[in-house]
Formats: sequence, structure tokens, C-alpha cells
Amino acid sequence: MQQQSKKYTKMQKTIKFRFKAIGALFIAGSCLIGCVGHQLGKNNSGEYKNGMVVSANALASEVGIDILKKGGNAVDAAVAVQFALAVVHPNAGNIGGGGFMVYRSAKGEINSLDFREKAAGNANRDMYLDQAGNPIVDKSLYGQLAAGVPGSVAGMVEAHQKYGKLKWEELLAPAIRLAADGFKITARQAREFNGMKARFTKLNPLGTAMLKEAKWAEGDALVQKDLAHTLSLIQEKGRSGFYEGEVADSIVSEMKRGNGIISKEDLKNYKAVWRKPVTGMYRGYEITTMPPPSSGGIALIQLLKSVEPFPLGKWGYNTDSTVQLMVEAERRVYADRASHLGDPDFYPVPQAGLIENAYLKKRMSNFTWAKASTSAEISAGEIAPLEHEETTHFSIVDRDGNAVAITTTLNGSYGAGVVVHGAGFLLNNEMDDFSVKPGAPNMYGLVGGEANAIAPNKRMLSCMTPTIIAKDGKLFMVVGTPGGSTIITSVFQTIVNVIDFNQSMQAAVNAKKFHHQWLPDQIDVEDKALDSLTKVKLAAKGYKIVPRGAIGRVDAILKTKWGYYQGGADPRGDDTAIGW
Ligand code: DON
Repeated sequence: MQQQSKKYTKMQKTIKFRFKAIGALFIAGSCLIGCVGHQLGKNNSGEYKNGMVVSANALASEVGIDILKKGGNAVDAAVAVQFALAVVHPNAGNIGGGGFMVYRSAKGEINSLDFREKAAGNANRDMYLDQAGNPIVDKSLYGQLAAGVPGSVAGMVEAHQKYGKLKWEELLAPAIRLAADGFKITARQAREFNGMKARFTKLNPLGTAMLKEAKWAEGDALVQKDLAHTLSLIQEKGRSGFYEGEVADSIVSEMKRGNGIISKEDLKNYKAVWRKPVTGMYRGYEITTMPPPSSGGIALIQLLKSVEPFPLGKWGYNTDSTVQLMVEAERRVYADRASHLGDPDFYPVPQAGLIENAYLKKRMSNFTWAKASTSAEISAGEIAPLEHEETTHFSIVDRDGNAVAITTTLNGSYGAGVVVHGAGFLLNNEMDDFSVKPGAPNMYGLVGGEANAIAPNKRMLSCMTPTIIAKDGKLFMVVGTPGGSTIITSVFQTIVNVIDFNQSMQAAVNAKKFHHQWLPDQIDVEDKALDSLTKVKLAAKGYKIVPRGAIGRVDAILKTKWGYYQGGADPRGDDTAIGW
């Protein structure tokens, strides 16, 4: 945690600069690409009629918008962006990780795709514990053993087969080009690569494209020939280009080099799964979001329904009443998460009960305005952690109004730190999202128990919350974010900022956020999220307020009542909205 806060403080220092630089880029970029007016405020990056892509990297957003302009639909663009991010945003974009997609067609069909990693067939419940039964530091975080069986390639193949319009080959081409020809790295990437040098060197004795003698500098080209070759095999052979043959051989050899356990059988058997999305209403808006094995969708619906009976709009953005109510809802929802949520194929998640109005009303009934509840007195309800900033989310809408929200991850920044030798991609460290021992916090401080214990072939619980919102049957918002345990609260607050406080999409994304996750019993607060009077009032009621760096990196799209798309690209990162 301490390391994390240092990182956040550092990130914070760079944010002011980035904010200015990216703001300028937005304005210049938006107007070059065809700004159609309707400026709603200085944070607004322009409004567009035909579609929009908002992702963590400008090159990936460009890849997506090109696909839309060529006549591809939102799913085609999403597939191309996912592969492009694997090249240009290597800390989180991936083919060696996994994720979730939420889809809504222009006609209102909804669906969700689970391409989450899973534990290898040889995994076992105590694999990260020492002989005394205590978690071994870093064992679930770094190296080959930290990796779950990757799901991203299977996910993209499934999504394309079901909804894609353009040819598969065409969707891989931009990523292959970026990997083979190279691209100019950003200042932030140069800093990250330099910072990762020691870990990369230790974990990749045979070298990787991200390792070089001299220091990396902004504008240096990153050329990834091995990754280009792997992407070409996927382009040519689809899923078998990754889960079988040369690439599968490389993954298994990599496992042998570092005591990993993913086998050829695990790879061949991996399947992405279509799941019925979780849905719920909030003030007349139809929320469609991700079901388990993400906890995000259920938690989001629980949070929205818990605050719905109260007049947030009247109280206003981040006033003491607003913050107190949202924090008390978050405390209860994260307590539920720790006990009741896990992979539904292995554990009976009481999904319907957790989002039932009567249950949530009862759950909020023991909160009083006079003083803070304590997490010690709140446990999971009778019937449902801290994570890092290196997942990535993107939102896409096409010309017809089909929408895709994808959140995808390697878990920690640069995942397990291991690049599969000869194949050029990073392995995830998603195994740390399991509860390695009941009550032992993971890298984000999240705790869990039986529901999220390790078992062979089981998927680890996630917080990722890709979400699509409609109003009166028409698309309203596409939203999601990285941020580990703060994903759920960032998505929650972004939605409330728009629906209750009438903020534009960009303003809602920029707005400073706060976070409570049951344990530890504290409110994490971004700089300037709360004014000093609000802090004093909350402290007087017994709330512990802890300053921290950036919360979330939301990339979202809003459809205005005039039918235009507004982007919200998070200034906390290199994120970029492009519309047309
Ligand atoms: O699935 C999850 O909830 C985590 N592995 C997400 C990690 C994350 O968001 C890290 N970065 N921001």
C-alpha cells in the first residue's frame, strides 16, 4: 500500500502537466477531425454525429476510428483497438491477459462476453502459501506462476464471429503494422520502461523489446518484431494461431523456464463465455453491466439502488451529505463483495438477492446521519479489495448506434513482468485477484474467502465494470475504467455526476473522486475532491479521510439529447477521444 501511495503521489505531480498538454491536444485534435460545435464547456472535447472511440492511447483510438470510417461496426473497431492497445499500451493492453465486453446494439439487444483469464488445470488452493500457511510475498504477482490462462484472443475471436462485419485480417492489420514498424513512445512510457528495467532484466534473461542498454526517451521507437509475428499468426489462423502451434509452444517453454504451470491443454481448452448481463434501473435509466466473474456489475447496481431514494441532485456534487451517503453505500457493497462474489461456474453467487430493492433498503437502514458507521460493525449481508491503475478501458459507438464497452487487463502494470520469449507479449499476473488465503488482502487490499478461493480452471474475481446505459430505449452512455478496487466507485461516481449533477461527459470524467471499500475503514480522496469544510464535517462524524493520487482513468461516451456523441477521455492518463 505504501508503495502504491508513493506511486500515486508521483502520478499526481505529472497530472497537472498532462492535463494541460492533453487539453491542448483535445482541442487541436477535435477540431482537426471535424468538430461540429455544441461546445458545452471548456472540458468538452467536441461533439460528433457518426461515432466515437475513447481509449487509453491516441494511436489506438485512431485505429478504431479508421475502422468505423471504413464501414466497420463498433465490435470491429473494438477488436482492432484491443489488438492495437496490446502493441501501443503494453502496460495494460494485451493478448496475454483477459477482460470483459458489454455490448448493446442500436436496436437494444444486450450481451456480455467474459474473456477473463482462468487458473491452470494444475492450480491448487494453497499454491501461493508457505509451509506455515502464510502467503509468500510476490509469488502471485511476478513471474510465470502468477499468470492465469490468457483469454483476450479467444474473446476477440468470439466477439468478431458473433457481431463483426469486416474481415478478421483487416482488424489485425493496424496492430501488426504498429508492432513491426514501431511507434514513438510517450514521455510516460519512457519513464515506465526505465523504471521497469530491473524487473524486466530479472524476469526476462533472454531479453525483450522493452529492454535496452541506453535510457528510453520520449519519441524513441518501440519496435516489437516477435509480437508482430505472433499477431500475424493470429491474423492468419484465428484462435489456433495463439492457443495452439508455435505460440502455445512458446508459452509452455516460458512456463518451464520459470516454474509456471500453464499447459498446452489449458491453452487449447480455454473458452470465452457469453453471459447474460446484469441489468437494473436508476432514476429511469437502464443500466447494462458485467455479471460475475466480475463483481463490478452487481456492485454498481447495488450502489446506484442504495442511493436512489435520496435527492443527490439537490444536495450537489461532493457535498458532505452526498459523500457520506455514497461512502456508507460503498462500505456495505464491498463487504458483500468479499463474501458473496466469485466465479459463478464454481460458486453459487446470490445475484438476484444482492440487487433486490428490499435487500438494499434493509442494508442501508442501519446507517445514521449523526456518525460514521464502522467497518467492524458491518459484515456481508445475509444472503455478497485494493487493486492498481494498470488495466485499460475503451468505449466505442458506431454510426448506427451500436455500442461496445471493453475493460481489459494484465492486472498489475506490465502484468507478471514476463514477456513470452519468441512471442513478444507480456503474461498477466491475474492469479493475485484470487483470494490466496481467506482474509489475506491482495495487491489492492481486497479480501475474500471461499467464493474466490483458487481452484483448477476457475476464473478469479474481478472489479472491472464495463457498462452501457440507455434511456427510453435509446443509447445514453458507454463507460468504464481501470483502477482495481476503485473501478466500481469511479464508474458509480461518473454516472451520478452526469445523471444527478448534470455534468458533461468530460466534466464527469475529470471530476475528482473518492473511494471507500469497507476495509480498510477509510475514505481515499483525490486532491481537491472535497473542500475543507466538507472534510471537517465528515471528520467530526468519525470518518477517516486519507489523501491519495489519481483515482480511475475513465473513458466514456455520452449521447446528448440532440443526438451528438460527447467524449470523456481521462486527463489522468494519455487517453484520447476521437469522433467523426
Ligand atoms: O480484474 C480486476 O479487477 C483487476 N485485475 C483490475 C486491475 C486494475 O484495474 C489495475 N489497474 N488499473
